[in-house]
Amino acid sequence: MSVNNTIEGGHVAVIAFPFTSHVGPLLGLVKRLAAEAPEVMFSFFATHRSNKANFSDEEFLHNIRPFDVEDGLPEGFIPKGHPQEPVELFLKATPNNFKKSIEVAVSEIGREVTCVLSDAFLWICGKMAEEKGVPWIALITGGPFALTAHLYTDVIRQTFADKSLEECEEEPLKFIPGLSSVLVKDLPEGILSGNLESEFPKMLHNMSRMLPKATAVCVNSFEEIDPTVTNVLKSNFKKFLCVGPLSLTMSSQPASDEYDCLPWLDKYKPASVVYISFGSVIPLPPSEVIPLTEALEESGFPFLWSVRGNTKELIPKGFLERTAERGKIVPWTPQTQVLAHESVGAFVTHSGWKSICESIAGGVPMICRPFFGDQALNTRIVEDVWGIGFGIKSGAIAKYEMLSVLERTLVGEEGKKRRNKIGKLKGLAEMAVESGGSSTENFKTLLEIVTSVNI
Ligand SMILES: *[C@@H]1O[C@H](CO)[C@@H](O)[C@H](O)[C@H]1NC(C)=O
Ligand SMILES: *[C@@H]1O[C@H](CO)[C@@H](O)[C@H](O)[C@H]1NC(C)=O
Repeated sequence: MSVNNTIEGGHVAVIAFPFTSHVGPLLGLVKRLAAEAPEVMFSFFATHRSNKANFSDEEFLHNIRPFDVEDGLPEGFIPKGHPQEPVELFLKATPNNFKKSIEVAVSEIGREVTCVLSDAFLWICGKMAEEKGVPWIALITGGPFALTAHLYTDVIRQTFADKSLEECEEEPLKFIPGLSSVLVKDLPEGILSGNLESEFPKMLHNMSRMLPKATAVCVNSFEEIDPTVTNVLKSNFKKFLCVGPLSLTMSSQPASDEYDCLPWLDKYKPASVVYISFGSVIPLPPSEVIPLTEALEESGFPFLWSVRGNTKELIPKGFLERTAERGKIVPWTPQTQVLAHESVGAFVTHSGWKSICESIAGGVPMICRPFFGDQALNTRIVEDVWGIGFGIKSGAIAKYEMLSVLERTLVGEEGKKRRNKIGKLKGLAEMAVESGGSSTENFKTLLEIVTSVNI
């Protein structure tokens, strides 16, 4: 079959981890690469569900083509609660599902694969690239800190081998450069806690061993964000390429603002509005909805709340009416633009990495209520290492603690200090994406790898 296939300008197989917020950053990066390398073809592999959502109405560049892969779900699958279930089933079907679709893509496009660009989680793509004798580029969608923690999984497990989780919870990871302020309890599940024998933690462990073999490891971040962690990662990988913040590099993205958030923000004074969003994966637990509404009401601050899932039904009667002249609740916001709006003065967030990058790009101090994965680790960095926000101490949102951190963020010296510090990071981020900046140069290196077809 491959006899007639050429490589011409090259064919990059882009392989997504089609869950939670992993697809967006990968697709964003691919769009940028595809625009700069019109002679290269990019095939984009994800499940039908994901492709349908991401490739629906938008005009796409001629050189990006989606291909569906099997999701591994049995016929008539009905989710039984645990959100990890479809992920585990998907992983069972991997890599054969991708291999099958890549064959289809090679024959339809008529070019052999010359490079594999994958979500780093799918470490198996490194093996696939190795078999084909082509470069493997891995994109990390979490931040450089979580990546460092995964990279040191074996060291961490050995260090705490004779202690129970309870015994070492409060211990700092002093032995890992860049993570010395991070406590064991902040670590993502799957490193020390959780069921280490299930597919997902094993995949991440395999990832940490495979990444040093990658041609390049890319991350949505910038080198100056934290020089210590940048150096650790540079010394562990062949090429460590910070190419973000992606939100600052995706220039021509049209801001669809169907709920008129931006004109609404225009009415308020600089740094006066609270913006609330807990991301698209986990809605705020029902028991925290009332405490949050009470804190918002009592604080008197204007607020914009992006509400997901069933949260809206849990909002107490009368709250919307009583706060109507200073509150806005919507199902969706153009978050990058909202955080870049000068009226926003505090961001109540789950502290997913993408949100943190967007908050830095907007210079908005954070109030972090982490849920899972790398979010607790990110919160520790935001609060204790960078001093650009507060973590919710009690783990769950409680009225008076929220009220207090809102006030400390929006009025007074503490808030000013945090705003100054995040303003400095914002400045460094802007420099990184300018011509000659570190992220711009790293992107050029990435482009060179992607366009080199001499295999
Ligand atoms: C892209 O696909 C992912 C995974 O299915 C989904 O979570 C996300 O919302 C999609 N993005 C858009 C813009 O629809
Ligand atoms: C992890 O790697 C081992 C050894 O290569 C392999 O047997 C196992 O299937 C992998 N598991 C996952 C979930 O990636």
